[in-house]
Parts: sequence; structure tokens; C-alpha cells
Amino acid sequence: MSIPAKSPRHVAIIMDGNGRWARKRGRPRLLGHRAGAKRVREIVEACPDNGVEYLTIFAFSTENWKRTQEEVAGLMSLFRRYIEAEAQDLVKEGTRIRFIGDRLRLDAKLQRLMNWVEALTAHNTRVNLTVAINYGGRDEVARATKRLARDVAAGRLDPEEITDETLPRYLDTHVLPDPDLVIRTSGEARISNFLLWQSAYAEYEFVDTLWPDFRRADFEAILARYTGRDRRYGGATA
Ligand code: FPP
Repeated sequence: MSIPAKSPRHVAIIMDGNGRWARKRGRPRLLGHRAGAKRVREIVEACPDNGVEYLTIFAFSTENWKRTQEEVAGLMSLFRRYIEAEAQDLVKEGTRIRFIGDRLRLDAKLQRLMNWVEALTAHNTRVNLTVAINYGGRDEVARATKRLARDVAAGRLDPEEITDETLPRYLDTHVLPDPDLVIRTSGEARISNFLLWQSAYAEYEFVDTLWPDFRRADFEAILARYTGRDRRYGGATA
């Protein structure tokens, strides 16, 4: 398969619509999340075939703690089981997995699994999957600012050196390139606190498909539209 010249290097996805998918079937919301988790692998696998090196997915936001205790606990247990079940396949397929977000608020067992699978896949290079858990763009900037302020207070950073190039080194995403394309499923046209700093020049695609129905063909259709777009980063048309 030939890879289009202008494929996005980094795609970020807001996986929305699991609850509505379940409701349409008269099933509990958690069933929608489970169906959504099954879609992740297919989209990760489509990345290298399409020239996408980085995929970042929004799994749990800093606002999602407001959901019922049952749904939050169900999602956390889904994340744990996902890591346990997928780890060996991630290694085999060459996927490097990372997590962004404030992991200190997550339960100790989940944190251990996250650290373990990050280390286990650290040498993989085929595709970089980043999962945002307990992530919020504003919270990330606030945590980054705290670390930056500590460096200033300790004399490790001169305030004059703070620029739009030095600040992102303090973000959770400091090792990732900025996303070129952000996709949101389920018909909502909001960014919901996702990668606020990093998406300054990203292209956005909002599609009506609910996340559990989102397939490789839907992903590839969006990538094809992206390759036809003209990105100018604030400059003039050629
Ligand atoms: C949004 O749908 C989805 C979430 C808050 C959870 C996303 C989680 C997954 C897709 C599953 C697990 C992922 C991994 C990496 C194992 P919603 O519940 O807000 O849907 P609604 O808007 O229709 O109610």
C-alpha cells in the first residue's frame, strides 16, 4: 500500500458516543465502553499502513469523575483489563504505549500497570499510541506551570527563557509532536479540554459516527480528506 505524501504524522481522537451506542440498544453504558475499547486496536493497526506515526486517544477526562461511581469504576476496571489483555500483542505488533494525564489520582494497581506497560513497550517504534487518562488540557498546563515555577524558584530556569518553545517541555506530551489532525466522533463539535496547547494548528474533523461504530474505513476516509487540505500555519496561500 502506498502512503500518501501528506499523511498526518500525529492523529488525536476524542472517542465519543459510547453511551449513546449502548442506549440505542437498551444496554448499560459500560457495554458501550467495552464495545469502544474493541475499536481501538483496529484504528491503531491502520496507522502504520497510512503513514500515521502517533495516535493519541482520549479515554478519561478530568471531568469524567463526575459520572456515576459505577461508570467510573467500570471504566477504571476496563483500563486495567485492557492493559493486561493487550500488553503482549502491543509488544508483538511494535506498538509503543504511553499515558498522559495526572496518573497520581488513579488507583495504585492501575498506575503500576501503566508504568509496567510503558516500560515493556519502550523499545517499540512501529506506532506510538498515547492514551489520555485523567487528562484535561487546562490541568496539564497548570501542572506544567507548577513544575516550571519550581525550576525558576530553584534557579534552574531563568524566567527570560520561558517561551512558546520552552514551556511545552513541561507538558505531559513533551516527547510527542503536536497533533496534525484531531477527530471527534458522535456528532459533537467541541474539543472538551483535549490537547489545548498542542492543537493550536491542528485540523479538526467532526464525524457523526458513534465511536463503537467507527471502523478502519471511516478513519481512512478522514485521512484521505486531510491529505487534500492546505495547511498554512497562519501564513498566506501559495
Ligand atoms: C465517551 O463516550 C467515551 C468515554 C468517556 C470513554 C472512552 C473509553 C473507551 C473508548 C474505552 C476504553 C479505551 C481504552 C484505551 C481501553 P460517552 O460515554 O461520553 O458517550 P455519550 O456521549 O454517548 O454518553
